[in-house]
Amino acid sequence: MANDKVSIHGVWASRWVFVLAATGSAVGLGNIWKFPYMTGVYGGGAFVVMYLLCIALVGVPIMLAETLIGRRGRQSPVNAMKSLAIEADSSRRWSLAALMGMVAALLILSFYSVVAGWSLDYILGMGRGDFAGISGDGAGAAFGKLTADPWRLTLWHSLFMLGTGLVIARGVVAGLERSLRIMMPLLFVLLLVLLGYSLTTGHFMQGFDFLFHFDPSKVQGGILAAMGHAFFTLSVGVGSIMVYGAYMPKKASIGATVLAVGLLDTLVALTAGLALFPIVFAAGLEPGGGPGLMFVTLPIAFGNIAFGQLMGLVFFVLVAVAAWSSSISMLEPAVAYFVERSGQSRVRVTAVLAFICWLIGMGTVLSFNVGAEAKFFVFGDDGFHLYQWGAEGGRNFFDSIDYLTSRILLPLGGLAFAVFAGWVLKREVVRDELAIGHPLLFGLVYWLVRVVAPIGVLIVFVAELTK
Ligand code: PFF
Repeated sequence: MANDKVSIHGVWASRWVFVLAATGSAVGLGNIWKFPYMTGVYGGGAFVVMYLLCIALVGVPIMLAETLIGRRGRQSPVNAMKSLAIEADSSRRWSLAALMGMVAALLILSFYSVVAGWSLDYILGMGRGDFAGISGDGAGAAFGKLTADPWRLTLWHSLFMLGTGLVIARGVVAGLERSLRIMMPLLFVLLLVLLGYSLTTGHFMQGFDFLFHFDPSKVQGGILAAMGHAFFTLSVGVGSIMVYGAYMPKKASIGATVLAVGLLDTLVALTAGLALFPIVFAAGLEPGGGPGLMFVTLPIAFGNIAFGQLMGLVFFVLVAVAAWSSSISMLEPAVAYFVERSGQSRVRVTAVLAFICWLIGMGTVLSFNVGAEAKFFVFGDDGFHLYQWGAEGGRNFFDSIDYLTSRILLPLGGLAFAVFAGWVLKREVVRDELAIGHPLLFGLVYWLVRVVAPIGVLIVFVAELTK
């Protein structure tokens, strides 16, 4: 059965534009900012190995499932799942998974925009030459000063959200291609320059060991964190890849495309890790230092190399662009859905949704300064509190949203998408969309989506609950 439906939101000019857009979504702060700091917090190699396993066995198969659901449905994730479920004589409630993903994506955008705002601030700092010859302590102090200032954070957060909204309002298909074709390769080149600097620090092997030395005793502690990050970094479990799949031309091969995106994303993360950790060790910084890791280490590198000011400036511009192409994909599922549902213009829908995300993002802005003591999900001696000021345990607002999305909503969403593609859609539909000629290869891919990915998610959940 052929499917020639076309999305009302546009179609990518070619399969390469899909690769570009999906890579633009996948490669972002998750690779350059979050991966290194999570690896630091969870102790290095064990985390990296689990993350790689999760990418290969869970993340990429789910990305494949999402792409094919999107392309088959040709609508926003919620409506794509609804109509495909009806077509397959199943419950239309499957679309609730896409609805949950949509909300998760908006929640992620709320804090993502704040962190992307930090890179905007660093563009200015680099341009002014603030970091020339800076030491580890100086870089730490500069970062502390930024996060302590709610006004400064609000300014950048607002600007970034505005930039995201502007592209979305014009339509993703029109806006994205031109900027990404140049920016993404350039980002990678600059990462290689940073890697070159790391090689000169004298601590390269220490960084390498930290990333790749597998210590089995550390596995249990970070297993859900690693899986959650695999979802986050590939943009899966929320419907972002699904909505981009809806704009994919029918002729493109989903399997090869998805594999390319997964590989590129992993390559960027590992390169960023290899570039950053030697600098961390050379400067005597703490690898488990948390979310500030990249913003403290990079100024040291750029502050101490030839042409560092210019390269640092360009680097932070590229980080902001990478973040921006990711944030666009977080907003798109919801915008596409509300445009379909309400018939309102993209501009109006975008304005409302971006404002809501901005408002929630203010919680993250404040969690780094005046609101740092507002703790959520507190398991104290006197029982559980949803919210408590100044509690010992618990998570601040930023940590709570991050935890809720990466470790709970994304894996649950991904699980539902894999089960939907593997068990609800008819085998012929999947075969038709994937168009994998070799029966054995198709069998393998189908098995990964139907069995391996869902069981992988469940095993990790059980391992986390019993740790
Ligand atoms: N994959 C993006 C990154 O690694 O920065 C983050 C992301 C994008 C998460 C889109 C979720 C999403 F829907």
